[in-house]
Amino acid sequence: MFAAATYRSRRAILAQAMDDIGLFPASPPSPMNYTANPHAYVQDSCFAYYFGIPQPFLVGAIDFDSGEAFIFGDEPTMDDLIWLGSATPPAEWAERSGVTHVLPYAELPAWLTKNRRGRIVHYTPPFRGTVTIQLSEWLGIPVPDIAQRASSPLVRAIVAQREIKSGEEIVEMESALAITAEMHAAAMRFSRPGVMEHEVSGAIEGVARAADRTLAYPVIFSARGEILHNTMHDRRLAAGDLVVNDSGASSQLGYASDITRTVPIGGHFDAKQRLCYELVLSAQKAAIEACRAGTLYLAVHRLSARVMMEGLVAEGLFRGDPDAIVETGAYALCFPHGVGHQIGLDVHDMEALGEDLVGYDHTVRRSELFGLRNLRMAKALKPGMVVTVEPGLYFIPRLIDRWEKEGRYMEFIDYEKVRSFLGIHGIRIEDDVLVTDGAPRVLGPGIPKEIGEVEAALSG
Ligand code: GLY
Ligand code: MN
Ligand code: MN
Repeated sequence: MFAAATYRSRRAILAQAMDDIGLFPASPPSPMNYTANPHAYVQDSCFAYYFGIPQPFLVGAIDFDSGEAFIFGDEPTMDDLIWLGSATPPAEWAERSGVTHVLPYAELPAWLTKNRRGRIVHYTPPFRGTVTIQLSEWLGIPVPDIAQRASSPLVRAIVAQREIKSGEEIVEMESALAITAEMHAAAMRFSRPGVMEHEVSGAIEGVARAADRTLAYPVIFSARGEILHNTMHDRRLAAGDLVVNDSGASSQLGYASDITRTVPIGGHFDAKQRLCYELVLSAQKAAIEACRAGTLYLAVHRLSARVMMEGLVAEGLFRGDPDAIVETGAYALCFPHGVGHQIGLDVHDMEALGEDLVGYDHTVRRSELFGLRNLRMAKALKPGMVVTVEPGLYFIPRLIDRWEKEGRYMEFIDYEKVRSFLGIHGIRIEDDVLVTDGAPRVLGPGIPKEIGEVEAALSG
């Protein structure tokens, strides 16, 4: 945990922005197949942000009017001690969180009845069924209505606070990236013809586990990089494959990292791979450079698309004005996702609070265009935000066939020429970038991405 003062100050800032009461349930454990066999525990990130305690079966409450905070939780039972060894009483956790009021879990409904006095009880949209049911019981709201009655004012206040990272949060994110750099180095060492994808993805995950870290999200390690979130690892790598490795560790306090590199199996990019890789790398560098306070992230997205389209026009895959190719949405044939997202305690930070409330505001609405509608954030960047910058080029056979059959963007796209690049599959390059008052800062140690560096890492 951070020092108690961090959590006290975070709650005080939130209390200044809010009225009434806020409830923050900790995440319950997530069973794999029966209750006593859970997945690795991941705390709810709002609870983690405001209370920091890495334990389930707790609820945090903040009286926004008085500024007081409360923890509801029970003493460890003898069974807890015998089977789990966890002996930390809630009062001790609460102290580490700077909370002085500690009450038994079962007293939450009575506490609400006594303290509510007609006030609103704010909560964030739950993403776990058990939390939905608990909120329903505590607040007397029918289960089907819980999601829609989540508090927009609370979500907006949390987003405004959590999207600006403090110095100690950046230190956490860089500590995650230090492990992630080792994960990518291991992947480059292990990636060679004849090796199965799951052998490499296992080695990647092993680096995180050996460092007592968890993954921030399941490893994507695939020679079928055109399948954007492909978590299958079922192919044997062959010379000439390009493999997308999108993997990142969490820090000890649960902050995410999210890095993608694309590597040639056999150790060298061929001419076509080199051409496409350089386009993605140029787009990524231009996009990183554009991550300046006040710039719309939408403009960063468009810039990365335009850089790639300029190159593909020069190669004859697209024709016409690159700006028109971007404006009309034709580019999304080869770049159907957004340039990135915010990152923090969640790899897609705060996505559970509602993507539009996190990434869009009154100045910019989500596009309905294919591809662009997947952009998770479009609003202006602010100092202290951390965003990923992850443009990619993909050659997706069924999408190409569908668009050609439907006669889409015929004036801009040479479908035959595009098909001649199907062997590339997919290329993505992703870094985590801190927006500052001046130049953007790529977080973490350098992870090879220049062609020479990647080829050298593979041969090492
Ligand atoms: N690792 C998932 C993403 O890049 O969004
Ligand atoms: Mn990402
Ligand atoms: Mn990623």
